[in-house]
Amino acid sequence: MQQQLIIKIVFIATLVIAVFAFWALMTYLWKPKKRWPSWVAYLILIAAWFGAIRYYFLNQVELFGTPHYMWFNLFRTESYAFISAIFLSVPVCIVLAILYALVNRISNKVPEADRTGRRAFFRTVGTVVPLAALGGTSYAAFTGQRDIIVTHESFGYTNLPEGLKNYKIVQLSDIHVGACIDLNDLDEILRLALLEKPNRVVITGDLIDKMSWLPETCERLRTFAKQIPDGVDYILGNHEFHHDVHRIVKDIKAKTPINVLINSNIQIMGGKQPVYIAGVSYDNERKKENRETMITKALSGIPKHAFVIFLAHHPEFFSEAIERNVPLTLSGHTHGGQIVLFGIPITPTGVPYVKGRYTEKNSVCYVNNGAGHWFPIRVNCPREITVITFFDGK
Ligand SMILES: [Fe+2]
Repeated sequence: MQQQLIIKIVFIATLVIAVFAFWALMTYLWKPKKRWPSWVAYLILIAAWFGAIRYYFLNQVELFGTPHYMWFNLFRTESYAFISAIFLSVPVCIVLAILYALVNRISNKVPEADRTGRRAFFRTVGTVVPLAALGGTSYAAFTGQRDIIVTHESFGYTNLPEGLKNYKIVQLSDIHVGACIDLNDLDEILRLALLEKPNRVVITGDLIDKMSWLPETCERLRTFAKQIPDGVDYILGNHEFHHDVHRIVKDIKAKTPINVLINSNIQIMGGKQPVYIAGVSYDNERKKENRETMITKALSGIPKHAFVIFLAHHPEFFSEAIERNVPLTLSGHTHGGQIVLFGIPITPTGVPYVKGRYTEKNSVCYVNNGAGHWFPIRVNCPREITVITFFDGK
């Protein structure tokens, strides 16, 4: 909790600095005759904007279903774009200013001519960069909200149990029912999952952020789970621990037929080579020894010759899965990095496993982009539902 508070404080402080830096840049470039009226107008505008977005976040559940909810949603998405544009344009303007100063120093311009040229240059930069940034972030936010893809992944194993041949598992991860993903979006995610006619569904953490939507989420999941022949398994992600994890687990267990795997496992097929699904909870504790403890507990009681499908919200657990020869790990958490340029996720995630399939030794890990998110900016990394099938790799 303390860590969350620190992140919140750092975010707000950075945002305040970015907002003021942006305004300082504007007043430097456009030099209003009197500074204070424009300062006041700017502060009122920013306060009104943040007041409105806060109103949306606090009252989203009540606003949902009303005729003007759609407009609030557009305003919400644009607000994310606006904040991102501020964060993006300030450093870009600073870098361009440094480059301009360096070029000027090298070319040894006359100071007077330099001053006029400098103002013209920065006026252009200070106008074009924020506008281009806002255009780009708005596009990324609206497409990030709208687009969702269904990817089909086949996994081949030489030791595949007979029962897993052509067996279909749908992975849903990081739905984040809340500010960005409302109940309509959840309905759409579940509808797309059902269209695939899976044998089984796994939900790999970060299911819900808005606790007041927990009853409706459970109701929808109950109807959904009843239509999945072999059932639904669910593990906890860090966002469950940010909210009321005990209530989430209690309600999912009491109101839905979903299996909740908390550092535990479940046998899903018997025979000569039984199949197990094991799951760990990611409670923000990333130390190697904690991960070791959790995976050991999750795999306990599983016979050596069994085939294990391992669910871990954080893909860092893949290291422990490799050490234990676990054939398949399904993860999420990173949201695929959300911003992917030239095929490379550029958002720092602190893990080597960010998006898609990774193979090491006898183990494979698949990291899902997330069927939802809490921040809608996405570039070349749409929301994702993964359909997993197995084949005999002999
Ligand atoms: Fe997430």
